[in-house]
Amino acid sequence: MKRNYWEKMAPHYQEEIFDVLENDKKKWIAKAIRNYANPRHQVIDIGCAVGKWLPVLSPLFNKVVALDISMNNLKIAQSLFPNLTNVSYQQGDMSNNRLRLQPAEMGVCINALLTPHAKDRAVFFKNLQRSIKSGGTLILTVPSVESYLLTRIIQQQYNIDNVLLTNKTSKDKAFKNWKNLQQGVLNIDDVPHKHFLQEELYLSLTRHQFTPVQFKKIEYDWNTEFLRPPRWLDHPRPWDWLVVAKKTSK
Ligand SMILES: C[S@@+](CC[C@H](N)C(=O)[O-])C[C@H]1O[C@@H](n2cnc3c(N)ncnc32)[C@H](O)[C@@H]1O
Repeated sequence: MKRNYWEKMAPHYQEEIFDVLENDKKKWIAKAIRNYANPRHQVIDIGCAVGKWLPVLSPLFNKVVALDISMNNLKIAQSLFPNLTNVSYQQGDMSNNRLRLQPAEMGVCINALLTPHAKDRAVFFKNLQRSIKSGGTLILTVPSVESYLLTRIIQQQYNIDNVLLTNKTSKDKAFKNWKNLQQGVLNIDDVPHKHFLQEELYLSLTRHQFTPVQFKKIEYDWNTEFLRPPRWLDHPRPWDWLVVAKKTSK
């Protein structure tokens, strides 16, 4: 999941990539942003992709920096929102130690911390720390390990989408998947994505000068996971973790 992956994905982004803004039916993320927004402040949208969150952020802040690893995504975002005049675009890799960032009062990072490589994640967290001023707020959404496992358990227990289930995997691939599972790296459409346990996320944030003040499940409909969810299946639902964290001074 290096830059190349996201550059190639850009033209197909709207069809291929899950839309958190649209699927967060209770609008928890937008509410969290509004709670901590200030029209005199700057916000950085980390991994902004094609800019879905920019119309939410732009009216609430003095300045918005839209950062993404993919230049192609940024070009699409720029072409979609020419009227958002307080948005500036920056190509940059959060997993690069030399990334230059102007710290903002708020950082919003919605399902962009996905890299399966532990070293890249370590730098990503350091850059999150650098990107937000002391006293500032981080609003972070990431895929959940707990939700992933719940989905697999329900799928097998109740024989859901059986036609799609195959146990035919090479030994090498099975071993790789098993190793990845130990790290919360789980496949979405056959592509390894980092998922987080709530406690793991808490630990990573506190080690990077962030104090989590709110954890929330961003719940989705079961048809985001299954082609044919049974009609009786409602709660519990699949979810991503939303965490609101305050950046502490040293
Ligand atoms: C799943 S999309 C989420 C997009 C957006 N935040 C949203 O909610 O609509 C992930 C985005 O993160 C970007 N990304 C992934 N790794 C990155 C990195 N190391 N540095 C900056 N952006 C990154 C990708 O290019 C992609 O646009």
